[in-house]
Amino acid sequence: MCGIVGYIGKNKALPVLVEGLRALEYRGYDSAGVAVFSRKKKKVEVVRRVGEVSELEKAVEDRPFLEASVGIAHTRWATHGSPTEANAHPHFDEKRRVFVVHNGIVENCNELKKSLQKKGYKFSSETDTETIAVLAGSLLDEGFDPKSVFLKTLSSVKGAYGLVFLFESEPDKLFVARLSSSLILGVGEDENFIASDSSALVGKTRRVIYLKDGEIAEVKKDEIKVSTFEDKPVDYKIDTPEFDSKKVSKGDFEHFMLKEIHEGPETILSAIRGRIDSRRGLVKLGGLEDVSNRFDKIDKIIIVACGTSYYAGMVGKYFFETIAGVDARVELACEFDCLETSLDCKTAVIVISQSGETADTLKALRRAKEKGVLTLGVVNVVGSTIANETDAGVYNRAGPEIGVASTKAYISQTVVLLLIALYKSKRLSRVAFRSLLKEIESLPNSAKDLFAESEKIKRLAEKYARYNNFLFIGRHYGYPTALEGALKLKEISYIHAEGYSAGEMKHGPIALIDENFPTLAICLDNDRFSKTLSNIQEIKARKGQVLALASLGNEEVEQIADDVLYIPSVSEPLEPILSVIPLQLFAYYAGVARGINVDRPRNLAKSVTVE
Ligand code: M6R
Repeated sequence: MCGIVGYIGKNKALPVLVEGLRALEYRGYDSAGVAVFSRKKKKVEVVRRVGEVSELEKAVEDRPFLEASVGIAHTRWATHGSPTEANAHPHFDEKRRVFVVHNGIVENCNELKKSLQKKGYKFSSETDTETIAVLAGSLLDEGFDPKSVFLKTLSSVKGAYGLVFLFESEPDKLFVARLSSSLILGVGEDENFIASDSSALVGKTRRVIYLKDGEIAEVKKDEIKVSTFEDKPVDYKIDTPEFDSKKVSKGDFEHFMLKEIHEGPETILSAIRGRIDSRRGLVKLGGLEDVSNRFDKIDKIIIVACGTSYYAGMVGKYFFETIAGVDARVELACEFDCLETSLDCKTAVIVISQSGETADTLKALRRAKEKGVLTLGVVNVVGSTIANETDAGVYNRAGPEIGVASTKAYISQTVVLLLIALYKSKRLSRVAFRSLLKEIESLPNSAKDLFAESEKIKRLAEKYARYNNFLFIGRHYGYPTALEGALKLKEISYIHAEGYSAGEMKHGPIALIDENFPTLAICLDNDRFSKTLSNIQEIKARKGQVLALASLGNEEVEQIADDVLYIPSVSEPLEPILSVIPLQLFAYYAGVARGINVDRPRNLAKSVTVE
């Protein structure tokens, strides 16, 4: 949620800042802004624009301060105040001496604002971030030097933040702070970078410092000092993660979302690579080795996540129950707070998050840690807060996901959860275990085959895109898949879509069915086939249109449903991994047919760092 870039060095700042913002735009895209220090004019210039980064780019073209070599920039997802120029970052004090970009939330904003207003300070935006800038300005008025202003401001602000300060009086340094909102520093030669995630650093440097919560940094072009909020120096480590620049470009695809759906097969391969060996009947998860004894003793698993990751968690619950024989439940991270449940030493909490920064999930994780239970992460972004704070975990290895709608990350989450369940497997016989591993090894190829239906899916999506409502139904593994299919469709096409267990349909939703309320029914060749087929018949009897997802070779479904898409027949636990792909494509093509910017649907942000 919101993207931050900072630059200080030998080169011109603006191109680096704007390019960085473009890479981070998936995090928020309702307004953007930059503040750069112009040595010629000896002052900080600010440009802010409503809309996408391209608007800001146009606005800074040919500006006289193009020579600036230090600056900060931000792309916003509105929380406090609507997307206007005044609400866009960077924010600054009235006398324009301190400039601030911020991700996160100032929880004591009203309190701070009131006390500053009492002292006569004026505000020109509706944002919480401006309070930080005005507070810092008030401390400058009291005569404090920039560093003390920075530290004193942090000690007064409550909430979550990734923050960068630029002081006009000290333009050879940027001040950075992190508390529950990710920030990384990119280390260059005679230049250094700041970014809210690594996508902004691609092509700039591979040497990064992951700031930890409660750390600040003073970043000069040739020096970086990291310390605690109490100003005690911290020894930092420079990591060199793999940034794949191909993964942050659309390549030949029209949208990131389409590219990322097409990366599904490769994502499965990457999630299982080196982790399973069907010949020897082994599942090896390096990330769990340190806690394997503890994990062995676990007899209850609580999976916690939000949105798409929550639906992956629902699939995971079935894996743990059917494969590992462990009691499992799934909780929405935002509801975890209200949970009255015993968390003992035999309970493990598994948190799932693509970004590793989702505020609700992070909060739930911290609560679980307070209770002393084993916490495991299923996270995509390496070095993210959730990945760092869990006791152990298994990375998704899906690579950067830029489209706001989660697609390949969901696939990798389900694969990783399956591997964890197999790692803990008690239920399966040796033969069944090996045969499932063998099938998993061939899953990337089965997933590839699904794209042969792309044209048909596109045609059907165009046909159904004129409806304003949709029902998605499925049973057992098909139920979370239905929920995820419905979420994808509503996010990307703005068609109202509801996911239901097929069995629940007759307990209410069936009242909605008529010729204008179509249903997507997941009706695969498994033990639940005939019951779901009956549900399709019930819908047809009420003039509802049905688009079914069936197993290849099945001839019964097409005799009843209006349209049918197929996936290859696989063992039941593998069904959710394959069946989501046609649903993702369906949502994608429906969104495109309705003229929506599918990579950046309205009101959404890729990583939700506020509760
Ligand atoms: O980064 P996370 O996996 O923690 O994000 C959780 C949700 O915000 C996310 O899955 C959201 O629902 C996506 N927009 C779904 O496409």
